[in-house]
Amino acid sequence: MTNKENLIAEAKKAREKAYTPYSKFSVGAAIKTKSGKVYTGCNIEIAALSVSCCAERVAIFRAIADGERDFSELAVTGDTSKPISPCGSCRQVMSEFFDTSANMYLTNLNHDTKTMKINELLPFSFQPEDLVNGENDE
Ligand code: THU
Repeated sequence: MTNKENLIAEAKKAREKAYTPYSKFSVGAAIKTKSGKVYTGCNIEIAALSVSCCAERVAIFRAIADGERDFSELAVTGDTSKPISPCGSCRQVMSEFFDTSANMYLTNLNHDTKTMKINELLPFSFQPEDLVNGENDE
């Protein structure tokens, strides 16, 4: 199995843990740290729907809470006809922690896969350095 296939398999396995009583739409994600560790996530839905969390963010937040900061790849999968497309909120979170060289494997259960970079998924994103000017405000 290639590195990419392995990360996609991890995302698929994580999808089985999804808690999706409302949408019944399960998603799995897996990310790899530059040191080679894998963190996975699934979507978790809450009856007050707006506080639900997508699989990608669960994987990233787990890794961050474990002290990781540098990631090289992400895979995400769901039962879509085309490769799954991460939501806007996840793209913003991904842009915080993945640099422009990182591969994002967007896939589905048929293994249709689209490999993209974060700046293609979220061009002209608001970045941590954009906050610097705020230091001059009274
Ligand atoms: N969802 C994800 O977890 N990741 C995506 O990339 C797309 C959407 C979740 C959110 C919600 O729990 C369900 O899929 C339907 O939108």
